[in-house]
Amino acid sequence: MKILAIETSCDETAIAILDIKETKTETKVSVLGNALISQIKIHEQYGGVYPALAKREHSKNLVPILKTALKESGLLKTEKTKTFSTKDINKLKTLLSHESELFELICGELPSIKTPKIDLIVVTNGPGLEPALWVGINFAKALNFLWGIPVIPANHMEGHLLASLLKNVKNGNFTLKKPLFPMLSLLISGGHTELVLAKKWGVYKLIGQTRDDAVGEAFDKVARMLSLPYPGGPEISRLAEKYREKHLGEKSAYPLPRPMLHSKDFDFSFAGLKTAVLYTLKKISLNQASAGSGEHSSKKNVLAKITADVKESIACEFEDSATEVLLSKSERAVKKYKIKTFSLGGGVSANKQIRHSFEKSFADNFPETKLFVPSQTLTTDNAIMIGLAGYFKSDKKVARTSLSRIRAMGNLSF
Ligand code: KG4
Ligand code: ZN
Repeated sequence: MKILAIETSCDETAIAILDIKETKTETKVSVLGNALISQIKIHEQYGGVYPALAKREHSKNLVPILKTALKESGLLKTEKTKTFSTKDINKLKTLLSHESELFELICGELPSIKTPKIDLIVVTNGPGLEPALWVGINFAKALNFLWGIPVIPANHMEGHLLASLLKNVKNGNFTLKKPLFPMLSLLISGGHTELVLAKKWGVYKLIGQTRDDAVGEAFDKVARMLSLPYPGGPEISRLAEKYREKHLGEKSAYPLPRPMLHSKDFDFSFAGLKTAVLYTLKKISLNQASAGSGEHSSKKNVLAKITADVKESIACEFEDSATEVLLSKSERAVKKYKIKTFSLGGGVSANKQIRHSFEKSFADNFPETKLFVPSQTLTTDNAIMIGLAGYFKSDKKVARTSLSRIRAMGNLSF
């Protein structure tokens, strides 16, 4: 089955074209085309994703990356430019009434593109930023109108979950073997921290989640406090690694709490950890002031005086705290539910310390449980995972959802 997948839930505009084949033992996923434009540089100055800007960028990016992905797949066939009829233009205008830039690009570029040989379009309908999700959804609807290819929605978090089960066999070719159940997945991203239990294929139950900030959000906010660029996760990780190289085995001079480590449930909380970093920074500045500098301790002054070593120490302690809580709750859930397969997924699963800690714990404590950690390129948002999530739904009821009922659902859950 050839699938065109569209992802616009946050700050990555992505389109992938997949050819998915089922054999007796596994699902073979060939990535025929994969185009992605990251908006990180654009949002950097705001220290986080700015929804109206994300929407505008998706509107600008979708048509160019559609062409790139089609070309890469060998599916871009052009014909002498025809023009759309007035009726077609009016229909597109209605569909894209909130995405005027996308409407212009479609009218300019799509008339010359022949309908590609694709069986299904899959588009993320949530969770995510609603204005951003709508751009992808309306684009999918416009393609359905022009090409007559069916469209189905996919859950972004299910995409992250499935991406971690993919094994890279050769450049652009993956396989997915059905895991043993029960399976537990820890999904950690900029918007989510979830423990998801699956007793059988495609049937999920959320057994734990964050009560406030997502772990990636905490990484980003702490990075901001330390004047590190957005996204903060990789920056914190870089500093923490430096610290460990220099101070192997040493206890941090700036201890931080392990929120909800001993709570009986499988929920998380990261807002308190982030605030604890803030208090630590304030305390350092007060100590410096009472040591006689006499200067007003503005944020700039505080940071100017925090040595690189102190920053690295705080980053390391923060990363250790987040890792410990994530691992400890996961271990308890693995024992309680007698888990046979465990997977890590989402942007934060790119974090080396988290990956190593899980790998070590599973090797030492749960040798019978198969651990899946996604390849680095599949940790952050992409459209391959969306195509995959759609593929496994394509024979289900959702596949028959009428087009008009596909809507952006910012809080879509499992
Ligand atoms: O899954 P994702 O790409 O987007 C969402 O769906 O949110 O995740 C983005 C998050 C950001 O918070 C980013 O800081 C975090 O993943 N992240 C990391 C690392 N790489 C990305 N966090 C910790 N360590 C990393 N190496
Ligand atoms: Zn994501």
